[in-house]
Amino acid sequence: MDYFFEKEVENNARGRVEAEEKVTGKAKYSAEYDIPELAHAVMVGSTIAAGRILNIDIANAKEAPGVIDILTHNNRPTVPGIATEEAWKKSRFSLPVFHTDKIYYNEQPIAMVIAETLEDATYAASLVTADYEESEFETNFKEERDSVETIETKEEKGSRENWQNADHIIEREFKIAMEVHNPMEPHATIADWKNGELTLYDKSQNVYGVQGNIAKLFDISENNIRVISEFVGGGFGSGLLVWPNTVVAIMASQHLNRPVKVVLTRPQMFTSVGHRPESWQRFKIGADKSGKFLGCYHQAKHATSSHTGHTDNITGLTWKHYHFPNIKTEQEEIPLNIPKPTWMRGPGDASGAFAIESIVDELCEKLDMDPVEVRLMNLSETDSQGKPWSTNYLNECLKIGAEKIGWNKNRKSKPGELKEGEWNIGYGMAVGFWNAGRQDADASIEMKPNGDIIVRSAMTDIGTGTGTAMQNMAHNFLGIPKNKIAIELGDSDLPYAPSQGGSWGLSSLSGGVAAACKSLKTKLVDLAYGSKFEKGKGNLKLVKLNSDGISMEDDSLEPVSYKSIFDKNNLGVLNVKASSSPREEAKKYGFCSSAAHYVKLKVNKLTGDIKILEMVSVADGGKIINDQAAANQVIGAAIGGIGMALMEKQDIDHNHGRLIGNDLAGYHFPCNADAPIIDVSFIDKPDYNRNPAGAKGLGEVGIIGCAAAITNAIYNATGKRMRDLPVTPDKIL
Ligand code: MOS
Repeated sequence: MDYFFEKEVENNARGRVEAEEKVTGKAKYSAEYDIPELAHAVMVGSTIAAGRILNIDIANAKEAPGVIDILTHNNRPTVPGIATEEAWKKSRFSLPVFHTDKIYYNEQPIAMVIAETLEDATYAASLVTADYEESEFETNFKEERDSVETIETKEEKGSRENWQNADHIIEREFKIAMEVHNPMEPHATIADWKNGELTLYDKSQNVYGVQGNIAKLFDISENNIRVISEFVGGGFGSGLLVWPNTVVAIMASQHLNRPVKVVLTRPQMFTSVGHRPESWQRFKIGADKSGKFLGCYHQAKHATSSHTGHTDNITGLTWKHYHFPNIKTEQEEIPLNIPKPTWMRGPGDASGAFAIESIVDELCEKLDMDPVEVRLMNLSETDSQGKPWSTNYLNECLKIGAEKIGWNKNRKSKPGELKEGEWNIGYGMAVGFWNAGRQDADASIEMKPNGDIIVRSAMTDIGTGTGTAMQNMAHNFLGIPKNKIAIELGDSDLPYAPSQGGSWGLSSLSGGVAAACKSLKTKLVDLAYGSKFEKGKGNLKLVKLNSDGISMEDDSLEPVSYKSIFDKNNLGVLNVKASSSPREEAKKYGFCSSAAHYVKLKVNKLTGDIKILEMVSVADGGKIINDQAAANQVIGAAIGGIGMALMEKQDIDHNHGRLIGNDLAGYHFPCNADAPIIDVSFIDKPDYNRNPAGAKGLGEVGIIGCAAAITNAIYNATGKRMRDLPVTPDKIL
C-alpha cells in the first residue's frame, strides 16, 4: 500500500458541518436565493397522454394580473439542442419542452406562464387551455408486457441443459409497482442569464453534469455557466439528470432578460423528475440436494417512456453476489405514454433483489435448510468477470445480523407458528449488494495565516453528510483540528466532482481530498523547510500540521508557525488544488458494498395489517468515515425498503392515461409510525484498493434486498408468499 495516508481515518465526528445552517434556516436551497427583479414561472401540463396540440389559448391568461409573458411551442426562444426533431434526438436532453406540438404523455409541459409573483403565475397558468388531436395511447404496463414475445438483451454463461435435472427447481413471477422519489425539497431552478453569462441555482446531484448538458443544449461555453446547488433536500436519484424545470427557466430568463424561478408543485414532482419504473420478473432457480445453486434464468421487463428510453438493470445483480455456474438473464423495456423513468435508490438492483432474494427463501424451504446457511454457501468469490473481490464481508454481515435479531433462537422455520393474539409473527432476511464504484474527483484547500482551512469540491451534499465526511478526512489526513476546517460544496466554480450518485460520492471525493491534503503538506514543507526537508518515501508522513504551525513527528526539524511561513513568503492565503483517479491496480479487483437485512414483523389475521417490529441492517461499506451520517443513510434506505414492500405505488388511470393520487396524501410511504427503530451496524474495515479513505459507499445497499426481507418475514408469519409489491392488506387476506 503506497497511499500517503495509511493511518485509519478516525470515525469520531459528532454533528454535521452544515447542522447550524440547516436548523437555523440559514442554509439556502435552490428556490431560496433572493435575486433582484426575479420573475416567477409556472409550467402548464398537457391533459392528454398522446397526440398533437392543435391550438393553445393563452388570451385569458395573458390578461390576468401580473402576467409578463407566456411561452409555448409557438413562440418560445430557439434552443439549439432542441431546435429541430433531429437536433432533439441527437441531444442528450430527451425531454419535450415546448419545442414540438407532439404530446407523448399526460402533464407534458405545453406552456409556461411568467408573472411577477408565484401566485399570479399559478392563477394565470390555470387559465391556459389547449385543443388537441388525440391519438391512441398506452399506459398499461401489464397489457403491453404480455404482448412482448421476444426479449432483446440477453447474457448467458454455461447452459440450461447443465441444470435441467437439478434436484430442486423453482420458477416464479414477481411484480413491482411504479414508485416515485419525491424528496422533501421539490426541484427548483433560478436561471439568471445576463450578458451571455448564465447563473443557475438548481437543485441537483451533479452540478458539472448540469453545466455540461446545458452548454450543449443552449450552445454556450461551459465557462459561461455557473451551477450552484449548495444545499439539497434529498435526491434519491431524482437529481442526477437535467429535467424540464431547468431548461424552461433558462429559456424564460433568456427571453425576458430577467432572472426567472421555477419551482415544481408536488404533483409535478410525480411527472417531471423521473420514477422507478414498474417491472415484471420471472426467475427460475435450480439447486442440488446440498443447497448449492446450479443455475438460474432471470427475465425482466420494465416500463419506460415512449419519447425516450431508460434502462433499469434489473438482472445485473443476478451476476454478482451468488455464484451460479450456469446463468442466463434477459431484459426488455416497454415504452409507454408515461413520463421518463430514471434511477431511483438502488436502481435495478433493488428490483432484481426482490426476485432473487424471494426465490432463494422459497428454495431454502424446499431444501429444508436455513436461509442464512444457504446464502453463505453460495456467495460468489469473484466478480462477474472473475476478478477477486478486493474486500467483501457479506458473510460477516450475514452472521452479525443473525446474531443481533436472534435468528437461530427466536425464529421458527415453519410458517405461522409464532402468535400473539390476533397477530402472527414472522422473521425474514435477505441481502443487498452493490458495485463499489469510484470516479475522478478534484478538491482544493485554501489556508489562511492562522491555519484555518477551507476544503472545496463541486460535489453536492444531498443529505448524506458529504461535507461532514470531508471534514473528518481532512482532519485525519492533515492533523488540523476540525474547528479550523470549513467545507464548501455544490458549485461548478469549485473543483471538479462527479455526481453524488451510484454510492460513489464519498469514495470518489476521498481521493480528491487526500490529494489536496498531500499538496498542502508538500507546499507547506517546501515553504517552511526548503531543501532542509529530505524528500523521500514516508517522510511526508512525519509532517504534522498543528493548530498554529508545522512540525516533524521525529523532531528532526524545528517547528515553524504558519504565520511566519505566510509572512516570509508574502502570502495572503495559500491555495492548493489536486486531482484524483481510481488507482491502476484497482483494475485487478472487483469492488462491492453489501448488506444483510433482518426483519421481525407481525401480521394481523383479521385486518391484514403489517407492523414491522424490528429491523437489523448490517452493512459493509468499507471504512466508515462518520458513523452517524453513514447510519442515517442506511436507516433512510431501509425506510425506503419498507415503502417499496408495503406502501409505495403510483397509480395510473388507464382510461385517461393520467397519474392518480399523485400527491403526498395519495401516494403512501412510511412515516415514523410505520418504521421501528432500525438497528444499523457496520463491518467498518477499510478497502485501500478503492481509495485513500478505504470507504466503499453505502447509499444503495441499504434498500437493496429490504423488500424481500420483509416479504420473507410475511411468509414466515402467515405462510403466504407475496410476489407483487406493494403488499397492501388486501393481498394478505
Ligand atoms: Mo442514486 S439512484 O445514484 O442517487
